[in-house]
Amino acid sequence: MKVVMTRSYDELSRQAADRVIQEIRDRKAVNLGLATGSTPLGMYRDILIHHRKDPLPLSGVMTFNLDEYVGIPTENPNSFHAYMNKHLFSKLPVPRHRIHLPDGMAADLQKECRRYESLIRKSGGIDIQILGVGENGHIGFNEPGTPFNSRTHVVRLTASTRQANAKDFGSVDRVPERAITMGISTIMNARSIMLLASGIRKAKPMAQLLNPIEPTEAWPVTVLKHHPDVTVIMDRDAASMSSFYQK
Ligand code: F6R
Repeated sequence: MKVVMTRSYDELSRQAADRVIQEIRDRKAVNLGLATGSTPLGMYRDILIHHRKDPLPLSGVMTFNLDEYVGIPTENPNSFHAYMNKHLFSKLPVPRHRIHLPDGMAADLQKECRRYESLIRKSGGIDIQILGVGENGHIGFNEPGTPFNSRTHVVRLTASTRQANAKDFGSVDRVPERAITMGISTIMNARSIMLLASGIRKAKPMAQLLNPIEPTEAWPVTVLKHHPDVTVIMDRDAASMSSFYQK
């Protein structure tokens, strides 16, 4: 595992953006696994700044998001479809048919999970998966206790995750109770993974990942210890509970 510690969130964002830009420039075709949430916002901003100055070759780019809420229409500003459109795709012209997110409005959610899983596989798999991490160690919406061998599935969100997302919805009872997420094994199939973590709230899950303890389903992020190509980019606050950290 490669660990990069940055002095600030802006530096984290720049480094993450540089890596994604490099992947897009280096390969004719690249499948990007994308995340929503507050952590990757700076990275998306920096990718767009770069693209405005020096346009990226996008015809070979395909994207797959980690997750989407169940029962929130794509045009609802709180859907992850709307988030991606607002923060990236409205200004980065990836061909529409090459952008993929799970469909949280599908009539048959189990069928939709199987469709998404097989779409990723048939498209050649994910080359680089961007991840954030929850305070409870979740990756995607895989909450503590999710089996490491899980594939794309429907999850019931925990009270703490719904609370963490309440600000977007105005109140916690408006946060959907369910979501579709890539499973842990789906994420682990990516050829490389880049995990971003910023702020003191992420110090505990990062310590679980970086300290020498066995991976445990109680902290989903710890599964990344088993992956051969993980880069962690985090700021000092997120690193502050890890044993290698020195002030
Ligand atoms: C987002 C996702 C989540 C977030 C995590 C951290 O698509 O799957 O796992 O990455 O909840 O969220 P932020 O970045 O808002 O702290």
